[in-house]
Amino acid sequence: MSNGYEGAAALAARFPAGFTWGAATSSYQVEGATDADGRGKSIWDSFVNEPGRVVDGSNGDTAIDSYRNIAGDVAAIKSLGLSSYRFSLSWPRICPDGDGRVNPAGLRYYSDLVDALLAEDITPWITLYHWDLPQALEDKGGWPVRDTALRFADFALIAHTALGDRVKHWITVNEPWCAAFLGYASGEHAPGRREPAASIAAAHHLMLGHGLAARAIKHADPEATVSIGINFYPIHAATDDPGDLDAARRVDGVQNRWFTDAALRGAYPEDVVEDFKAVTDFDFIRDGDLETIHAPIDILSVNYYSRFTVTGNGGSASASAAPTGAGSAWPANEHIGFVPAGLPVTDMGWEIEPAGLTEVLTRLHRTYPEVRLAVTENGAAFPDKLDEGRVRDPERQDYVARHLAACADALDAGVPLVGYFAWSLADNFEWAWGYTKRFGLVYVDFETGERTVKDSGRWYGDLVRRARSNREAE
Ligand code: FCB
Repeated sequence: MSNGYEGAAALAARFPAGFTWGAATSSYQVEGATDADGRGKSIWDSFVNEPGRVVDGSNGDTAIDSYRNIAGDVAAIKSLGLSSYRFSLSWPRICPDGDGRVNPAGLRYYSDLVDALLAEDITPWITLYHWDLPQALEDKGGWPVRDTALRFADFALIAHTALGDRVKHWITVNEPWCAAFLGYASGEHAPGRREPAASIAAAHHLMLGHGLAARAIKHADPEATVSIGINFYPIHAATDDPGDLDAARRVDGVQNRWFTDAALRGAYPEDVVEDFKAVTDFDFIRDGDLETIHAPIDILSVNYYSRFTVTGNGGSASASAAPTGAGSAWPANEHIGFVPAGLPVTDMGWEIEPAGLTEVLTRLHRTYPEVRLAVTENGAAFPDKLDEGRVRDPERQDYVARHLAACADALDAGVPLVGYFAWSLADNFEWAWGYTKRFGLVYVDFETGERTVKDSGRWYGDLVRRARSNREAE
């Protein structure tokens, strides 16, 4: 095992009492059962059927069958000793047409899942939007259209009314950057559109939806913990060349400042507004929108995987696009290239930089001291093999351990970090990469559905048990 972090006992001792220990998934990636019990279609159901969109030609029709296997998921979470589970709601399972018509069977699945978790003393953290927009709303224009944000607020309230008596942790939108710019600019994700101006409108309406949903939930339950999930990256300029420094400012602006400044400051960063003027006149922003978006939140959810090194001189248009012929995810910034810094990479080609997580967390705390932070996704894909009932994945264990040490460093520096969720509980459908990338702590045989806790999962479970029992003994 490589070094750079302490052993499990010492690492566990660095986390405070009451720290949330979890793992995460999302609906389309795990549920399957895409036409069961009145579920409507999502944009992912349509997208995966278009040739060439997913590298292995696969889809989420079966995924890892979580819809039909609540017991299996809860048993896996329990076997890891986790205190929390983060999962998302499939909007079209609950509202098949994207409007106020509710499918009771859809709500029942999530209600049963919540009950099964609570029966094992596992706290549910719900994400309302993890990218599976009802196709019916995409047919009316999707996220570039304002009405989608209003329908999202309705859906949030429907979900909260059904589950809010038992669920206190709500994440409105997961990674609006991906939903807007991979969905509507590069087209790597559903709905696969390549419309730079529309992607910026989509980004705004995702934030408007966040603000409306956050306010609706807080109004219904002032005790609820409301959050938004954003993917952050330290951005480095490739050289001191002014073009590279400007590229770093631009990518940092869109990736790290655009969404958080809107949510926590009630204003989009002025330099990024200037950059985006090359492609949009912002006619979709109405008076009062930023005020709505600036809804009080309790926790900022941080998804962290990697860092970027950028140049203003072109090159690779994306840090990690799947080889599916996608366009640029960077409207008004198409001249920017992403270059490798020579660090070790995961199976996604993502550079491994644990110190970057400390950097992201301390910067966020410095900039937005009023909000607590949680790491709601962190993890790595590696090409795992099941070998006589065992999956030896020392690289993933090393990745998680070093990122947890980075979290502990942030705690030492005074960052109010309240939890850590590994991505992912189990191997699943990795979007445009299909089933070719494995992120789970639990290995899934995609043919039979059989699950095997990986070595990294055992290690994480051991660490979590130590951390939780250390503190209970105090
Ligand atoms: C994040 C997504 C999650 C998963 C991981 C690897 O961007 O939120 O669904 O795909 O990346």
